[in-house]
Amino acid sequence: MKHTIDQIAEVAGYLWQKGWAERNGGNITVNITDQIDERMRQIPPLVPSLAIGKSLPALKGQFFYAKGTGKRMRDLARRPMEAGSIIRITDDCAHYDIIAEHPVMPTSELPSHLEIQNYLLQSGSTCRATLHTHPIELVAMSHSPQWLDGNRLTRLLWSMIPETLAFAPLGIGVVPYALPGSLSLAEQTLAQIRHHDVVLWEKHGVFAVGDDIIEAFDQVDVLNKAAIIYMSARSMGFVPEGMTDDAIAEIQQVFHLPTQR
Ligand code: 13P
Ligand code: ZN
Repeated sequence: MKHTIDQIAEVAGYLWQKGWAERNGGNITVNITDQIDERMRQIPPLVPSLAIGKSLPALKGQFFYAKGTGKRMRDLARRPMEAGSIIRITDDCAHYDIIAEHPVMPTSELPSHLEIQNYLLQSGSTCRATLHTHPIELVAMSHSPQWLDGNRLTRLLWSMIPETLAFAPLGIGVVPYALPGSLSLAEQTLAQIRHHDVVLWEKHGVFAVGDDIIEAFDQVDVLNKAAIIYMSARSMGFVPEGMTDDAIAEIQQVFHLPTQR
């Protein structure tokens, strides 16, 4: 488990350095069930069970590290167990217990994290980490209606630099503005993450998944880099040409890129 917590702290530091994590912005959840020893399984809850808001059947008895609500990524980078907690989903699949190390309330975006974690287990995915963050350039693009079409935005980002296509072959999906922390935001995010690498929340941030939190971070970093290249060209006074459709198709064929999660 130390390795997983170290990775979470490492990524929290990157998020702060990149300016994606103002104040308490963003959150991280990682499924650590296979790293929980017998001693931890027996730890009694620190506070009475709390409601998730819905039943998520695949999460019965699962353990997660979750960033605490209101906690800062820059603090998490140095003291991950003070800025987050370990939670266990109860047998009714609709509540959770906080078991370690402090009674820190988990992130307000827990509905989205657990909804997607439930889907990952149900679908047999190897992904165990979920990330929400506020990458500046992608959020800026989401303020223009022309980039709220996921296919159009994906095509633009892929065309900025070949690696975007290679490392984000499913592209980016878009969820129209929804209340932060709401079940509606969680359900719309699930619908998009089934078919995309990253989901953009209009005028708010992004949501990503990965085998571990490093991979989830990389997915956002790759797509936001493409957004920065686009923005840089526009700032230099021209509209970037972008790779051609043929060049994009060639990469998809040569690298046998998946078209579905
Ligand atoms: P939390 O501090 O509750 O994790 O919220 C941060 C955030 O980015 C909400 O969208
Ligand atoms: Zn947010």
